[in-house]
Amino acid sequence: MKTLIKNGRIVTAVDDYVADIVIDNGRIETIGRHIAVGGDVEVHDASGLLVMPGGVDVHTHLDWAFGATHTVDTFGTGTKAAAFGGTTTLIDFCNQTMGESPLKGLEQWHKRREGACVDVGAHMIMLDVNAGSLADMKTLINREGVSSFKLFMAYPGVLMLDDGALFKAMRMAGANGALTCVHAENGPVIQVLVQEALEQGLTAPKYHATTRPPILEGEATHRAIRLSELARAPLYIVHLSSGEALSYVSEARDRGIPVHAETCPHYLFLTNEEYERPGFEGAKYVMTPPLRERGQAAHLWRGLKTDDLQVVSTDHCPFCFNAQPYGIQFSKQLGAERFSEIPNGAPGVETRLPLVFEGAVLKQGMSINRFVEIVATAPAKLFDLFPMKGTIAVGTDGDIVLFNPDEQWTIRAAEHHSRMDYTLFEGRSVTGRVKKVFLRGQCIVDGATWHGREGMGQYLSRGESGRIN
Ligand code: URP
Ligand code: ZN
Ligand code: ZN
Repeated sequence: MKTLIKNGRIVTAVDDYVADIVIDNGRIETIGRHIAVGGDVEVHDASGLLVMPGGVDVHTHLDWAFGATHTVDTFGTGTKAAAFGGTTTLIDFCNQTMGESPLKGLEQWHKRREGACVDVGAHMIMLDVNAGSLADMKTLINREGVSSFKLFMAYPGVLMLDDGALFKAMRMAGANGALTCVHAENGPVIQVLVQEALEQGLTAPKYHATTRPPILEGEATHRAIRLSELARAPLYIVHLSSGEALSYVSEARDRGIPVHAETCPHYLFLTNEEYERPGFEGAKYVMTPPLRERGQAAHLWRGLKTDDLQVVSTDHCPFCFNAQPYGIQFSKQLGAERFSEIPNGAPGVETRLPLVFEGAVLKQGMSINRFVEIVATAPAKLFDLFPMKGTIAVGTDGDIVLFNPDEQWTIRAAEHHSRMDYTLFEGRSVTGRVKKVFLRGQCIVDGATWHGREGMGQYLSRGESGRIN
C-alpha cells in the first residue's frame, strides 16, 4: 500500500519546509516537490498543516499491576488514546516480581501488549536485585531488546531498591549499554511524613503533596546522580517536577556527566492548587511526584529551553476517579478515607502533543523544531528508536502526524479514547490539534474517525540506549 501526503509543512527537530511524502510498505520512500502518483496511491492533502513525526512517549503504565492496584487502560485502549493524541510509539513499563526473574515479567508483558494499536517497546522495573536478576539484565539487553531499566528510590516495601541494589543495577546497565531510569524521591523519609500526617488526622488528598516535598526529590536526584557517576552508568531521571531536582541535573550536565531528564505536562501546566478542589476532587491529581507550587514550572520551561531537560513524556498511569464498568476496582475512591490509599498516577497519553505545542511554541516562544525534538526526536534517540522513529526522512517508518497549529478546541474526557473517566485538563481550551495520524504509512486516525485496529502495533526491540548525540 502506498500513501502520498502532499503540500504539508514538514517539521522535524531540524527541518522546516513544504514538500510531499510518499510512504511505501510502511517506510518513507520519497520526499520531494509535486510528486506525481498513480491511482493506486492513497492521497492526503496536508495544505496548511504541520507534518511532523509521530510522537514518542517513553513513559506509560498500561495494564500494569502497581502494588495491590492495577491501571485501567489495556494496551488496546491506551494505545488508541495515544494515537488520537498523535503518539505512534510508546515505551511502557513492565516489572520484575519479587523472587522471580525479570524475564518472566517481560514474558507476561508481551502477552498483555498483543492488543497494542501503535508500536511499543519495554522498560524493565527491577525490584529484586541479586546475582540471578543481574545476569538476566544482560539477557534482557542483548537478547530481548530491553535496554532501559527503571529503579525506584520511593515506595519502600513495594518497588524501592536500597542504595546498594540501586548501585549494582546501575553498574550492570552501564556496562552493557543500557540506560538507567530513576524515580527519584526519598521513599523512607516520605513514609515517616505520611505516617505522621495520618496520626494527626490529616487524611485529605492535599496531604499527598505536603508529605512529598521537593527537597526529597532533590535529595534523591542528587544521590541518583552521584551513584550513577560511580557506577559509570548514563542516567535518565523520570517525571522530574521541581527546580531543586533540576538544579542537580544541570550541575551534573555542566560537569559533562551523562544525565538526562524528562518532565510531564502536568508539572508544566498545573500547580498544587489543584489539591484544594472541593470534596475528594483533589484525588484526581494524586501522582508522584505531586504537583508543585506555582513558580516551579518556570524552572522546567527553562530546563527545556536550555536542554537540561530533554523530553516531555506523560507518565500515563490511569486510575479512574470512580469505580467503573469493565470490572474496574482500583479507582481513586480507595483513598476516600486516607490519602495514602489513593492509587498514585494520572492520565495524559491523549493530550501531550497539543498541550506541549501550545505551551512551548505559542506561549514560551520555543521553535517548532524544539517542540518536535522534546516530544519525539530526543526520546527516540535516548531509547534507541531513532531514526526509524522520531523524525521524517527517506527510509524511516512512515509514522506521521498532520497537526493544525491554529485550531482551537476544548479538552473533554468524554471525547477521549482511554478508559479513564477524567482528564487533568477538563474544559481547558487549547490551540493546536491532531488531525490525522499515520502508523507505518497507514492512516489510523482521521479527525474523530478511527481506522486502526488492536494488534497492529509492533514490538520495538532496542539496542544501546542513553546516547543522544
Ligand atoms: O504517580 C505515578 N507517577 N505513578 C506511576 C508510577 C511511577 O512512579 O511512575
Ligand atoms: Zn516513577
Ligand atoms: Zn510512571
